Amino acid sequence: TCDYGFCITLSEREITAEAGLCAVIPCSFTPGYGFTVSSVVWFKCESSKPRCVESDIIFRSNKNRRNIQSGFEGRVSLLEPVVSLNNCSIIVNDITESDSGSYQLRVNVECDNRLKYNFNQQKLDISSGDTGGESGQN
Ligand SMILES: *[C@@H]1O[C@H](CO)[C@@H](O)[C@H](O)[C@H]1NC(C)=O
Repeated sequence: TCDYGFCITLSEREITAEAGLCAVIPCSFTPGYGFTVSSVVWFKCESSKPRCVESDIIFRSNKNRRNIQSGFEGRVSLLEPVVSLNNCSIIVNDITESDSGSYQLRVNVECDNRLKYNFNQQKLDISSGDTGGESGQN
């Protein structure tokens, strides 16, 4: 049986990243009973948009390179490359100010040859800025 008890957890709602450094987005999920994970897709769009769309893709865990925003190619990777471990955390390298925005993900899972898309409704906002000179001071 395929049980639609699917859940994605983004443990943080907002992350502040420093330009030039990297940002880690912690993320995990529970596929429904009987489902296996086929791929994880991350999106990034303007924070004002309630939902990112296909042209906002920045990372896919499979070999498909279609529609990946050019500025993100090669800069995003999974912390845990084995998607069946239910860990969707990513690291984004070389953060620039234009990386500010809303990050969303979709986990593609499959059961009995039926494909189910899951789009997380939660948004995670990353803001980035050059805070050079201020780090290390309280
Ligand atoms: C996901 O994987 C990373 C890297 O192995 C690890 O640091 C992190 O704790 C994992 N997250 C969860 C929720 O297991």
